[in-house]
Amino acid sequence: MFLRTSITALLLSQSPLILSQTLTNPVIWQDHPDLDVFRIGHTYYYSSSTFAYSPGAPVLRSFDLANWEAVTHSVPHLNFSPAAAYNLTSNSRAYVKGIWASTLRYRPSSDTFYWLGCVDGGKTYIWSSPGGNARSNGGEVPPETWNWTPRPVIDKCYYDAGLFFDEDDSQVYVVYGNTQIRMAQLSVAANGDLREVRNQLVYTSSDMTLEGARMYKRNGDSPWGPYTRRVLVDRIQGPLTSAGYAHQGGVVDTEDGRWFYVGFLDAYPGGRIPVVAPMTWGGDGWPTVVRDGGNGWGRTYPIPVNTTRKVNVLGPRVDEFKGVKLGPEWEWNHNPDDGKWALNNGLVLRTATVTGDLFAARNTLTHRIVGPKSRGTFRIDVGAMRDGDRAGAVLFRDKAAYIGLHKTVDSASIVMVDNLNLVEGSWTTSSTGRVAATGPTVTGEIWLRIQADITPAFGTSIGRQVIFSYSTDGRTFTNLGPAFAMSNSWRYFTGYRYGVFNFATKALGGEIKVKSFAMELV
Ligand SMILES: *[C@@H]1O[C@H](CO)[C@@H](O)[C@H](O)[C@H]1NC(C)=O
Ligand SMILES: *[C@@H]1O[C@H](CO)[C@@H](O)[C@H](O)[C@H]1NC(C)=O
Repeated sequence: MFLRTSITALLLSQSPLILSQTLTNPVIWQDHPDLDVFRIGHTYYYSSSTFAYSPGAPVLRSFDLANWEAVTHSVPHLNFSPAAAYNLTSNSRAYVKGIWASTLRYRPSSDTFYWLGCVDGGKTYIWSSPGGNARSNGGEVPPETWNWTPRPVIDKCYYDAGLFFDEDDSQVYVVYGNTQIRMAQLSVAANGDLREVRNQLVYTSSDMTLEGARMYKRNGDSPWGPYTRRVLVDRIQGPLTSAGYAHQGGVVDTEDGRWFYVGFLDAYPGGRIPVVAPMTWGGDGWPTVVRDGGNGWGRTYPIPVNTTRKVNVLGPRVDEFKGVKLGPEWEWNHNPDDGKWALNNGLVLRTATVTGDLFAARNTLTHRIVGPKSRGTFRIDVGAMRDGDRAGAVLFRDKAAYIGLHKTVDSASIVMVDNLNLVEGSWTTSSTGRVAATGPTVTGEIWLRIQADITPAFGTSIGRQVIFSYSTDGRTFTNLGPAFAMSNSWRYFTGYRYGVFNFATKALGGEIKVKSFAMELV
C-alpha cells in the first residue's frame, strides 16, 4: 500500500515533463453539440447546447484546444416559458426544447461574458456574468467569479445565433438565420442590457441550407457585407466511422496567429462530439482545413499550443459529492426542485414527484457518458426509501432503461427495467417501462452500474449494447436483465447519459443518499 502510494506520487510529480504534443480527435468524447468557441488571451472557451437539462449551456475551458474542462453554466436555471414545463411540474414538458445553437462571447470593455439563445422559436434569452478581469489575466476567470444573471429578453428569435463584439465593443452584432442570414446590431446600455437597434438581411442562399452562422473579422471588413460564399468543409471522411462528417462549430485563432476549425460529429448513440483541425489561409483570403495523409479529417494533429497550464480534463472521474456545490459536469433533467436535494457528504435525493413515469419525475441528475466504452457506478444508500418509491441508475434518453430499487412496505428489490419510451416528436410518454428482471432485496448500500458502448453507430441499424449490474460490496458485480440496445436516432438531439433518480409512486417523504459516482473507461 505504502509502495503504491509513493509510486503514484512519483508519476504525478513527473507529469509536467511528459505533456502530450498530440491532439487526438474527438478532443472530448462526450456530447457537447452546437459549439461556439473563442479565445481571450491564452484561454479558449467553448459553449454548448443542453435543451431541457438544467443548468444549461455549459462553458468549457482549454489552454491548448486539445484538453478541456467544465467551468460553469451560462444558464443556471431555465427561465423560459412556460415555467411549469421547464420545471417539469405540468403535463406539457420541455423535452427537446430549451437551449440549442446558442452563442457565448466576452466583452472586454465591461469585463462581461454574454450568452444568448433563441428559445422555443420566439424569443432570445440573454444571461451575463462578470469576467473577474479576464482581459488582464490571459482570459482566466477565478472560479468564484462566475455569477450569471438574466438580462431582458429580446422579443425576436435570433435563430442559430453568432454573437460578435467589434474591436470597438460598443458595437455588438448577432448574425443568425436559416438560409436567410440576418445581422442584428445591438446597443449596450449603461447597466449592460442589450437592445436591438438595427436589423438587416445580409445573405440569401438559394441552393443550400445555411445555419449555425458565426462571425469573425479579418482585414477590417464591414459587418454589413456584402458577403460571398465558399465551402470550407464538405463531407471530409473521418476521423471516426459511423459518425457522419464534421460540421457546424466555429473557428478560432492562437495568440501567435494560427487558426483552427472546431466542428462536431453526429456520434449517436453518444450524441455530438467535437473534433479539431488546423486551418490555413490562402493568398485569396479564404481558409482551408488541413487534412491527414489520406485526405481525411485527422485522427491526430500536432498539439495547437504547447503549454504547462493544466485543466481538469473531462473524462473518467470519481465524484464523492463532498463540496457545497454540484460540479459543473452535472445537469438535472429539467429544472430541479431545490428543496428536495442537498449535499451533505453525499448527495441526498428526496422524492420530489409522485408519479409512475420517470420522464415526469423531477430531480433526475444526469452526467454525460465518456466514450467510446465506459461504465458509470453509483454507490447509493437506500435505507430511507419509503413504500412505493423507485430509485436507481438510469441510462437516460427518450428510449431509456434502468437498474434500481422498487420499494414496498416489506422490502426493496433490485430490478432492471427497460422499455421506458417517449414518442418521437411529441415527446409524450408512450411506455413507463417493463420490469425485465428482478434481483435480491437490499437494505443498506448498493452499487448500481451501467456499462455503455457509445462507439458511433449513426446511420446504421447497430444497437450498441448496455449492461446493467449491481454489487453489495462495491467489488463483485452481478449482471441483471437483458443487454439493452441503444437508439441511434438524432431526433432527441442529446445523446444518452448516466443518471440517478428517486421518485415516489405513492407519497413523498422518502430519500436516498448517493455516496459516489465513478465513471471509468472499459
Ligand atoms: C419554477 O421554478 C422556479 C425555481 O424553483 C420557481 O421560482 C417558479 O415559481 C417555478 N414556476 C412554476 C410555474 O412552476
Ligand atoms: C510544441 O513542442 C514540440 C516539441 O518541442 C514542437 O515540435 C512543436 O512545434 C511545438 N508546437 C507549437 C505549436 O509550438
